[in-house]
Amino acid sequence: MSGGLVTAAYIVAAILFICSLAGLSKHETSKQGNIFGMSGMAIALLATIFGPNTGNVAWILVAMVIGGAIGLRLAKKVEMTEMPELVAILHSFVGLAAVLVGFNSYIDHAPGLAPVMENIHLTEVFLGIFIGAVTFTGSLVAFGKLRGKISSSALMLPHRHKMNLAALVVSFLLMLWFVQTDSTGAQVFALLLMTIIALVFGWHLVASIGGADMPVVVSMLNSYSGWAAAAAGFMLSNDLLIVTGALVGSSGAILSYIMCKAMNRSFISVIAGGFGTDVSVGGESDEVGEHREITAEETAEMLKASSSVVITPGYGMAVAQAQYPVAEITEKLRARGIKVRFGIHPVAGRLPGHMNVLLAEAKVPYDVVLEMDEINDDFSDTDTVLVIGANDTVNPAALEDPRSPIAGMPVLEVWKAQNVIVFKRSMSTGYAGVQNPLFFKGNTQMLFGDAKASVEGILRAL
Ligand code: TAP
Repeated sequence: MSGGLVTAAYIVAAILFICSLAGLSKHETSKQGNIFGMSGMAIALLATIFGPNTGNVAWILVAMVIGGAIGLRLAKKVEMTEMPELVAILHSFVGLAAVLVGFNSYIDHAPGLAPVMENIHLTEVFLGIFIGAVTFTGSLVAFGKLRGKISSSALMLPHRHKMNLAALVVSFLLMLWFVQTDSTGAQVFALLLMTIIALVFGWHLVASIGGADMPVVVSMLNSYSGWAAAAAGFMLSNDLLIVTGALVGSSGAILSYIMCKAMNRSFISVIAGGFGTDVSVGGESDEVGEHREITAEETAEMLKASSSVVITPGYGMAVAQAQYPVAEITEKLRARGIKVRFGIHPVAGRLPGHMNVLLAEAKVPYDVVLEMDEINDDFSDTDTVLVIGANDTVNPAALEDPRSPIAGMPVLEVWKAQNVIVFKRSMSTGYAGVQNPLFFKGNTQMLFGDAKASVEGILRAL
């Protein structure tokens, strides 16, 4: 394939990636968005493999078959609730790839570049490895936290902000040295030392962020992985990798910004590793009083006597796969003339839009599924709220306790309704590890058990 044809194929692929992002921004066009993305990637792969700069095609094909087989197996096996973990581990691969490309590009670059071009090349190598290494360990920690292998609470090392700043300053000084020195030994030393610092920095940055802020971290690492890919594109002089990396980097940054706004968090504080969270102590598992219990049959009676019902689903609904009986209850209640709506918190579940996807899958009509801002003023006029497997997203401590790790985060104000029924299996905390005073309020009753079994029990009694 000639160079001109490869460039043309890259332009088509880049346009398809942009169309893909546009398609993925809406429910109705998301399938189309996926098809655009897959077509763009297929064109990009073919043009790269059969382009004039590629040798050893057989090796590439062997690697693709092995990688493709692992990817296919994983994608078939992964549960919807495990998607964020999968995304986090995939980001770590992008980071590791950028580190390897960086070292390779340093060892194997064409000699005889003009001094200015040589400096630019060395800066690209250094920055590419730095961003890649931060993304690699940061994503591994995010994976561990999402999978429950590492505690989801924030690591609060003394002087942590000073340590982060020192890591950045030392890395910057190492970069100046790396670019200016003529000694290969000094360059290798600077590169290796910076890689170690960047690996520790990435690990510490994400470890310092508490459970409730993890959604922002996942989208931020998504953005970092894009910039790492763009840096690899510069090192490999591959225009499409630069464009694609920049698209992923900037869309991840925009998503992080939107999520920070939704959670009332400062974007800078979150990307600086939880800066400003020093006051967030206490509030953990303190008992806040007595709780009352209710049965599925009593809940069914309460629902029949209600004229308006709001359902606020959370991560537990996804775990229990309770969306199908929830959709059936919705239909039954609506058939009785009861007004039923859903209130969706922007970070409910474990990935952006998690609840919307599940409810759409169970064919709940879009028009009764409302965002938090659209429903929050209506709780005081609601007879019954069903909190199905949600915890942090309905926790009044976010508004009432300035010491809470989730202080300041907007939540669904379900406690303003006449009756609140909380579906969960025990009194344990949610993802952020904070006790929920909602469970002990006078108008709250707990319906213990697996959410799917509880909802099916109500369905039978209706
Ligand atoms: P969580 O606070 O995670 O609480 C979920 C609740 O579901 C738990 O208290 C658990 O209690 C219950 N549960 C689990 N399995 C269940 C089952 N089979 N049946 C019934 N209940 C079950 O949920 P949330 O309100 O959706 O909040 C989401 C949290 O995750 C937030 O802190 C958010 O910041 C964080 N997060 C979100 C994202 C995104 S992008 N959405 C990404 C990463 C982290 P029991 O164990 O007692 O049953």
